[in-house]
Amino acid sequence: MDPKDLRVNGKRLQSALEEMAKIGATPAGGVQRLTLSDEDKKARDLFVKWLEALDLEIKIDEMGSIFGKRAGKNNDLPPVMSGSHIDSQPKGGRFDGILGVMGPLEVLRTLGENNIETERPITIVDWTNEEGSRFAPAMVASGVWAGALERDWVYDRTDINGKRFEDELIRIGYKGTVPAKKWPVHCYYEYHIEQGPMLEREGKKIGAPKGILCLHWYDVYLEGEANQVGPTPMEGRHDALCAAAEMILKVNELPDRMGGNMVATVGEIQNYPNSRNIIPDKVHFTVDIRSWDDDHALKAWELVRKDFEDIATRRGCPIKIEETWRVEHSPFDEKLVQRILNVADDLGYSSLHMVSGAGHDASYMNQVCPTAMIFVPSIGGRSHVEVENTTWEDCEAGANVLLHSILQSANEV
Ligand code: HGY
Ligand code: MN
Ligand code: MN
Repeated sequence: MDPKDLRVNGKRLQSALEEMAKIGATPAGGVQRLTLSDEDKKARDLFVKWLEALDLEIKIDEMGSIFGKRAGKNNDLPPVMSGSHIDSQPKGGRFDGILGVMGPLEVLRTLGENNIETERPITIVDWTNEEGSRFAPAMVASGVWAGALERDWVYDRTDINGKRFEDELIRIGYKGTVPAKKWPVHCYYEYHIEQGPMLEREGKKIGAPKGILCLHWYDVYLEGEANQVGPTPMEGRHDALCAAAEMILKVNELPDRMGGNMVATVGEIQNYPNSRNIIPDKVHFTVDIRSWDDDHALKAWELVRKDFEDIATRRGCPIKIEETWRVEHSPFDEKLVQRILNVADDLGYSSLHMVSGAGHDASYMNQVCPTAMIFVPSIGGRSHVEVENTTWEDCEAGANVLLHSILQSANEV
């Protein structure tokens, strides 16, 4: 068959996604496959089984990332790489991440059954802990591989129950021996749902982001004074939750104060002792700031950090701040982005040049090699929720764009 006429098998892609969605399935139709959980292990085991069936050279590195390499005519050439993540949010969707692992798997299945040889090898990857929900921060495995994060610092990260990342990696049997250190890669494609409303709003089928916003994550810890809510007068209280409430609203107001071009969110909070008749004395909450302009995000942080300190002083609630993680904004390789737009056009799919507000492992891959992403629409623009949905037709279309983008890059010598 002329490689130009190649198309993926949409039904097979659908059944792979449906098979994976059974692992960690939630009653409301989403998935809970927290990184390094038993569900993550089960999905990894299934993924490795599928890679073995394709006779790929399989490697697992010391961060637990799983690589499957398909030989090319010249295996000394750096491979084309494509992948994403199997882990999910606590009540996540059936497409976030996993589409970007099942997509390249379907590409390799299609190339195999049509006996298509490429000049370069092609490597598929599942990156450990892209979400950063159970173990903060996000994208840690691609971050260590790219040399941006320290392996042992990540190993010592703990979840809310005090479990260490490395111990959980060992427990599920995925602490590999291959060093999590970058090696030459020709280029990297990540296939992903958009996780926002743009493609649906514009009526476009394929998104080609020009890059990804910067992501800045902070952790705020407040100390107050616990007491019985009844006899304790209002004045003179040191109520950590009220201090946090004021601070959270300051975060929400920040984009307006900064004149836009950013988002700022408090997504997670713990309140202790969290009993209705005790004044709270300990609160932890998270701050997530994103912008295409890194300095804009940093200025915003300096502004709101000052607010936090003023509120903490006024309420007599000592504050501790951890500047947990920052990844720069990632402008993708323009030629590779253009390739995706051209391939979409060749295949008769409408496309949109856009930006990614969601973080991806492509943020770190972009620091190592030419990188670009392929988006397909999220119905209702929803993601990180159990109702996350994308049509099977769009999943197939995106996989066809991935197939031909990879083919073109894998035949560049
Ligand atoms: O935070 C993000 O955008 C990604 O889901 N890790
Ligand atoms: Mn994702
Ligand atoms: Mn996600």
